[in-house]
Amino acid sequence: MVLAELIAIKERELAARKPVVITCCLAAGCLSSAGQAVKEALDQAVKAAGLDAEVEVRGVGCMRLCCEGPLVFIDPPGTLFQQVKPEDAVSLVGTLQGGTTHVARGEPNHPFFARQLSIVLENSGFMDPERIEAYIARDGYLAVRNVLREMSPAEVVSEITRSGLRGRGGAGYPTGLKWSTVAKTSSAKKYVICNADEGDPGAFMDRSVLESDPHRVIEGMIIAAYAVGADQGYIYVRAEYPLAISRLQTAIRQAKQHGLLGSGVFESPFNFNLDIRIGAGAFVCGEETALMASVEGRRG
Ligand SMILES: Cc1cc2nc3c(=O)[nH]c(=O)nc-3n(C[C@H](O)[C@H](O)[C@H](O)COP(=O)(O)O)c2cc1C
Repeated sequence: MVLAELIAIKERELAARKPVVITCCLAAGCLSSAGQAVKEALDQAVKAAGLDAEVEVRGVGCMRLCCEGPLVFIDPPGTLFQQVKPEDAVSLVGTLQGGTTHVARGEPNHPFFARQLSIVLENSGFMDPERIEAYIARDGYLAVRNVLREMSPAEVVSEITRSGLRGRGGAGYPTGLKWSTVAKTSSAKKYVICNADEGDPGAFMDRSVLESDPHRVIEGMIIAAYAVGADQGYIYVRAEYPLAISRLQTAIRQAKQHGLLGSGVFESPFNFNLDIRIGAGAFVCGEETALMASVEGRRG
């Protein structure tokens, strides 16, 4: 992969875009209430209405209002529909040809949405998480390209320190301090580990990002590895998150195929391999030393 290829993928994606996009939530919450069947029914309804050329039905990651799922967003006109059933698909597609529907509308400008500034989840709900091209179209992997080709590892650490970025593992540990400690440690072999164990009951921030934007996690890990001098990464995910694991596996495979993982990332001298380790679901294995023991095949 080189910059010109990244730009070409983005341009192809943007050129292939259809005038209307129907986004259909395919994260765990909406899937558990028949989101996949809704997506398939919408696909069929679009074909039956002869609208394939103008309308794309896109499966996306979490659209945030999980309690009202399955969620569907039609843009334009920018209407959110909630609690959609497969049998509603024909009337929803009919609204594009002047028809009406009884399906409940959500409020895209509801304070629940309007007060949120999505940073980590900025792509979630807009992009198909199973297509690397969709991530690249939203400028994915551009940061890692710029880091590898234009910055030294020390510059990356200092940029992260200046940014004030902190960990999301509970303690809000300063990321720059963590990276500079590892960078200064002299060792022939270093690792980057992503803690996606998420043992806290009812906490779904790791699952959301892995299901909705797995390439973002991979890109962050590549940058971290370059900054600290690691050439191997592990993502520790609990087995209760099968969808997150399968989307991660897909994303890792795609990143390898595009030369973004493995030897010579972005045709630079930097090498980075990434593997998933599946945790059995012990709460203590989310603690970092127990997690590392578990990655090594020992008791957490
Ligand atoms: C019993 C216990 C369980 C923990 N579980 C998790 C967890 O599931 N996920 C997590 O990110 N951090 C967990 N932590 C915190 C980690 O030890 C560590 O501080 C964190 O992963 C650091 O990541 P950060 O840089 O994102 O803050 C746990 C800590 C303890 C003591």
